[in-house]
Amino acid sequence: MKKSVKKGIILAGGHGYRLYPATRAVSKQHLTVYDKPMIYYPLSVLMDMNIRDILLIINASDSDRFKRLLGDGSQLGVKISYKPEHDPRGIANAFLIGEEFTGGDNVALILGDNVFCDTLQIRTAAADFDGGALVFGVRVNEPEEYGVAEVDRSGHVVSIEEKPDKPKSDIAVTGLYLYDSQVTEIARGLRPSGRGELEITDVNQVYLNRGNLKLELLEDSVTWFDAGTADSMLQAGNYVASVERTTGRKLGCPEEIAFRNHYITAAQLKQLADDMPAGEYRDYLDKLRRD
Ligand code: DAU
Repeated sequence: MKKSVKKGIILAGGHGYRLYPATRAVSKQHLTVYDKPMIYYPLSVLMDMNIRDILLIINASDSDRFKRLLGDGSQLGVKISYKPEHDPRGIANAFLIGEEFTGGDNVALILGDNVFCDTLQIRTAAADFDGGALVFGVRVNEPEEYGVAEVDRSGHVVSIEEKPDKPKSDIAVTGLYLYDSQVTEIARGLRPSGRGELEITDVNQVYLNRGNLKLELLEDSVTWFDAGTADSMLQAGNYVASVERTTGRKLGCPEEIAFRNHYITAAQLKQLADDMPAGEYRDYLDKLRRD
């Protein structure tokens, strides 16, 4: 029987050191990737997966700014709640901070700096989620920068390592993960790594040991960025700009997804547009409603 995923966590804390000095005053996830804040992209991925109950884990000092941007989500027909991360202790710590939110249900975790362009394959794989852990792989040039998965000929994961010096494959594990209820107990059992973090790769390793880790290798048509550095953020922005200019369609636009998924009505979309100052984003929302 399929076990759907109805809850999602966006991890949007951390120090953002790699983007200093910009992140001295604002969180990385508020910086723009072309025409919208970075956080819109992971939020859109969750909404594309039809996940409407969303927890944002943020630095306590960013709370007001996040709430000003996204509120409680009701304007988008979703529910957004917030929990502070007092000290960045690693990605897997999200499941301890989010324990009450998850409440023993399946959960998706997405990193706040991950930009996925085209989510059809993700949506299809997520709809087939049937427990255990599901991660998404992408072939990259510099796998040593990421979690790396090695798969056998039939696509089964054989090994998974965090930023290995000698990667066993060119498959990077992206920052989108689906887990069943075992994840909280697994996170609780982790010990900090050499760099002092509760590693998400160690969570995946436990699932692998239990024979419960699946990897969906994303096709070349799915472009993915970890926009956590100045260079990758620029690359992501340039890519989004190019697609949007060519197609006239926005990537990572939560208002559009809310409207297309019938979370909000045309009148509510109009209200969202009316509440914005004149400009290209507002014109886009107006056009959506009229088309
Ligand atoms: O993007 C995919 C990669 O993300 C994976 O391939 C790696 O396996 C995974 O460890 C992770 O690597 P990064 O080095 O990119 O992780 P980073 O420390 O940059 O954290 C990613 C996001 O999570 C970032 O937006 C900040 C947030 N974060 C991170 C940590 C460690 C937190 O909010 N709290 C934290 O404690």
